[in-house]
Amino acid sequence: MARDSYSSEFISTSENETSRIAKDFADLLKIGDVVALKGELGSGKTFFVKKIAEELGFDGYVSSPTFTILNIYEASTYLYHFDFYRLKNVEEIEKIGFCDLLMEEGIFFIEWPEKAEGLLPEEYFEVRIDIVNATHRNLSIKKIAGNKEVKCQN
Ligand SMILES: Nc1ncnc2c1ncn2[C@@H]1O[C@H](COP(=O)(O)OP(=O)(O)O)[C@@H](O)[C@H]1O
Ligand SMILES: [Mg+2]
Repeated sequence: MARDSYSSEFISTSENETSRIAKDFADLLKIGDVVALKGELGSGKTFFVKKIAEELGFDGYVSSPTFTILNIYEASTYLYHFDFYRLKNVEEIEKIGFCDLLMEEGIFFIEWPEKAEGLLPEEYFEVRIDIVNATHRNLSIKKIAGNKEVKCQN
């Protein structure tokens, strides 16, 4: 499917299926892309990023950035993996230099993007993961274009 109008829904009944979905999606990504991952704790946001990182050639360990806020992986390009769960508001996110980091060369993954309201670029991918039961997830991936409130701008 074309990147610019990408919109897909998936039902995953296992980690393996989610892994396949993540890896197929990874093949679509380009340097500069931003991927916002929404879904409750334990839905699989970190798992999804881990599988993308694997597909893009990172052979190290992907851990949750909940405490570090940002992990960086060297794959075919740099992967910036943010988790804003522990940050309180947009000001805290600006303070860690988020807007400057977005200008680095790489692909950006953001868990809890709701906390960064207004700081996301005009275009990005939104991945939504909903827990159905212990092994079953509903996933929705779509390209968001024309996000109006763009505060990170130079
Ligand atoms: N179908 C599935 N797809 C993805 N993860 C699944 C699935 N079924 C069970 N899981 C488990 O859900 C958990 C997701 O954890 P994690 O990725 O850390 O969530 P989050 O980052 O959203 O808090 C993992 O333990 C993973 O093994
Ligand atoms: Mg996580």
